[in-house]
Amino acid sequence: MVQMLEQKSRLTIKERMTKLNESLQGSQAWNSIFRPGSIFRKGYSDSPRNRSYVVMNSVLYHLHPVKVKRHAVKVSYTLCLGGLSFFLFILLTITGIFLMFFYRPTSANAWQDIQSLHTSVTFGLMVRNMHRWGAHLMVLSVFLHMARVFYHGAYKAPREFNWVIGVILLTLTLLLSFTGYLLPWDQLALWAVTVGTNMMGYSPVIGSQVRFVLLGGVEIGPETLLRWYVLHVLLFPFVTVIFLAIHFWRVRKDGGISGPL
Ligand code: HEM
Repeated sequence: MVQMLEQKSRLTIKERMTKLNESLQGSQAWNSIFRPGSIFRKGYSDSPRNRSYVVMNSVLYHLHPVKVKRHAVKVSYTLCLGGLSFFLFILLTITGIFLMFFYRPTSANAWQDIQSLHTSVTFGLMVRNMHRWGAHLMVLSVFLHMARVFYHGAYKAPREFNWVIGVILLTLTLLLSFTGYLLPWDQLALWAVTVGTNMMGYSPVIGSQVRFVLLGGVEIGPETLLRWYVLHVLLFPFVTVIFLAIHFWRVRKDGGISGPL
C-alpha cells in the first residue's frame, strides 16, 4: 500500500491524466457512445443486395435515396432551382441569426441599430446585404422553381399534393420577405407596409379586422414593428421548416424527381 502511494506520488500530472484517459476510454459508457459503429451501425455494403437494408437503417444514409433516376441528377433538368431556394433559406437563417445579435425591434432603436450595423459592427454591412439580397434572390428562385415544375408538368398526379405544399411555401416566402421589409424602420419600409396593410384592409368581410391584427392597432406603430419582428424571426421560419420537411418527404415518396419530357 505504502509502495503504491509512493509510486502514485512519483507520477507526473501528464502521466496521471494519460492513465485516467486510458481507464475512461476503456469504460463501458465510452465504448457504447464513441464506438465507431454507433453512427454507421451496419457499415456500408457494396453488395447491391444489402444496400437498401443499410440505407434504411441509418438516418444519415436515409437522407439520400437508395436509387436516383439518371435524369434527376442532371442539372439541366431541375436547374437545381429547388436546391438553390433551400440553400438561400439556410443562408438567410444563418445571416438572420447574426443580425439578431445587433438589432432591437423597438421604434427608438431599430433604425439606429441598422446604421450601427453598417458602421461599427465587423462584417455588419456585408452580412446585412447578404441577408437582403438573399431574400430577393429567394423570392426569384422559388418563383422560377415553380415555373420549372409547371413546365415539366410535375404538378400532375402523383405530385399534386406536393404542388399544394409548394404553393404554401411560396406564400410563406413572400410573407417572410414582406415582414422583413418593415424591420429597418425607415421611410421606405413604413410606407410600403402602410400601402400593403391598406390593401389587405379592402378584403371582403374580415378586411378591417385582419388589418387591425396585422398592425396591432389602427395605424402603423411600435406594436406593428414588434409584431412583424416576431412573425419574421420565429413563426414564419418555424412553419416554413415544417412545410419544407413535408415537401422533401413528398419528393421522395412520389418516386423522386418527375420523369423527363
Ligand atoms: C421555399 C421554397 C421551396 C423549396 C426550398 C423547394 C425545394 C424543392 C426541391 C429541392 C425539390 C427537388 C427538385 C428540384 O430541385 O427542382 C423540389 C421539387 C418540387 N417542388 Fe419545390 N421547393 C419550394 C417551393 C415550391 C413551389 C412554390 C412549388 C409549386 C407551387 C413547388 C413544387 C414542387 C414540386 C411539384 C416538386 C417535384 C418536382 C418534380 O418531381 O419534378 N416547390 N422542391
